[in-house]
Amino acid sequence: MMKKILVIHGPNLDLLGKREPGIYGKATLQEINIRLKKLAAKKKVSLTIVQSNHEGRIVDLIGRSAKRYCGIIINPAAYTHTSVAIRDAIAGCGTPAIEVHLSNIHSREEFRHKSLISPVAKGTILGFGPNSYTLGLEALLGLIDTP
Ligand code: DQA
Repeated sequence: MMKKILVIHGPNLDLLGKREPGIYGKATLQEINIRLKKLAAKKKVSLTIVQSNHEGRIVDLIGRSAKRYCGIIINPAAYTHTSVAIRDAIAGCGTPAIEVHLSNIHSREEFRHKSLISPVAKGTILGFGPNSYTLGLEALLGLIDTP
């Protein structure tokens, strides 16, 4: 059976391409998803990709992930810095999660320096633009094969 991975894009990431391109680059979310799908096909894994602006929806997806997916790639976007609920969902779901960010949150405003998600993620990849996602997928697959 093909391994299934859940990819979650948090709030405002649907606006990539037009949203602060100096920080997030010109790639649209669709372009990022195409790159992820190409890599997934090469690695023979299947991806479910969801974008949501709603914290509760993201919590629901993570909470139900255990039976369906062997790993999660998540860019929690602004919820990175605020969401105890998403953090607790990741801590409790039993599915390994990799946190990714397009930008280097540590070189930006101080309120972005703290991630509530990092302590419960298996690892975090940040600052590489769209490559953060493909690097995150490679890292997750390495982790699943050699836990
Ligand atoms: C982000 C960084 C967050 O601070 C910000 O709120 C985002 C995107 C990133 O990918 O660089 O929406 O997660």
